[in-house]
Amino acid sequence: MKELEVGIDKIGLYVPKYYIDMKELATYRGVDPNKWTIGIGQEQMAVPTLASDVVALAANAANQIITEEDKGLIDQVIVGTESGVDHSKSIATFVHGLLEINPFAKAFEIKQACYGATAALQLACDYVRLRPERKVLVIATDISRYGLDTSGEPTQGAGAIAMLVSANPKILTIRQESFMHTNHQFDFWRPNDSEYAMVDGHFSTKLYQDEFVKVLEHVEAMNPSLLERIEAMTFHLPFTKMGLKALNAYEEAKGSHPIIDKWRSHYDASRVLNRRVGNIYTGSLFLSLISLLAKDDTLSAGETIGLFSYGSGAVSELLIGQLQPDYRQYVNSEEIEQHLDRRDALTVEQYETIFLEKQLVNDGQSAPLTADEVGFYFAGITDYKRQYHYQA
Ligand code: HMG
Repeated sequence: MKELEVGIDKIGLYVPKYYIDMKELATYRGVDPNKWTIGIGQEQMAVPTLASDVVALAANAANQIITEEDKGLIDQVIVGTESGVDHSKSIATFVHGLLEINPFAKAFEIKQACYGATAALQLACDYVRLRPERKVLVIATDISRYGLDTSGEPTQGAGAIAMLVSANPKILTIRQESFMHTNHQFDFWRPNDSEYAMVDGHFSTKLYQDEFVKVLEHVEAMNPSLLERIEAMTFHLPFTKMGLKALNAYEEAKGSHPIIDKWRSHYDASRVLNRRVGNIYTGSLFLSLISLLAKDDTLSAGETIGLFSYGSGAVSELLIGQLQPDYRQYVNSEEIEQHLDRRDALTVEQYETIFLEKQLVNDGQSAPLTADEVGFYFAGITDYKRQYHYQA
């Protein structure tokens, strides 16, 4: 029986209003700029203000893609994040309320480092496979923080990706078959009382490569001809050299092979946007997907795309997608460029000031915050309740 076609019908990106240029920050830190632009592969890094928190980023991303009709058809709002704003209440409930999605839907959050949104996407696809007339809104939203002048600093970032999952999607179908692997490790984690992520940096990059090789070897065992049918491979990109390192590791394990060269030929297109945003944790893989779809003119409808998701701790999964006939029409490269170009560059002093700003919560109250620009924003805390407003 032919599999019902289910997957990403719409996809939207939202990044904060500010960024810092990596060359400028590297020079300030006394690092050779080539280490960050070439060695790590980052040009710019998104910087969120307090007003541009993960709820605001998520709501603004989703607001770009869903219509009034969608709001009535959405049965679930699922947020993948590792930057939750409350131990109990999910970001998804805030977004559900802000966007006025029909009340007879459910809303919840999934956490497993950068992997969470992949689990959300899979859940969404399975739900729609059983109820093809309904839709699910999946959002990846995160702020990556390692601290000023740390080795992780050049791999920070912030942003959200929203995806509407439906039957007969316009952009990418996601196959039911996928390949996963779990390996309990401490490569990157953030204890409940720590504002910053803890990371064993070099171990984390090695573990990522090992997990990629393991997952691909699992694919070879389970479905021997599948890898050769994948035209382009997209990756979770904590920094844009990471996917290349994974491809090199696979080549080292397997020996040289034309399929690896083919994946390399599409790699640069899949990291154009990530180079300008940084690590957005759960959204990084999907940012890379948008980048590939918007920037790679050599791809054609019907081709198969691999999506390699990695979340420290560690969970990995390879999803298999297929480009839909008019996908180019629905991933507007010009609009995406405009969204990135609207941003203002910060000086290092401004970046450090914004980075160190705290919410100053006293007896459950905080000072009111102002919006950076048009859209949803975090306006402060009243009676321990986070307040969100819309700046028209
Ligand atoms: P580091 O020690 O500052 O950098 O840490 P390095 O010495 O490893 O150098 C980085 C690269 O720059 C190397 O390239 C150097 O050769 C090169 P490589 O050998 O690796 O290909 N280099 C230069 N290139 C050109 N010109 C120069 C120059 N100098 C050096 N002058 C590290 C880098 C990524 C470890 C650090 O930034 C870090 O800890 N980042 C955070 C952790 C991370 O991103 N890990 C990635 C895998 S884990 C993951 O993806 C999950 C994650 O997203 C979290 C989650 O799941 O929630 C992080």
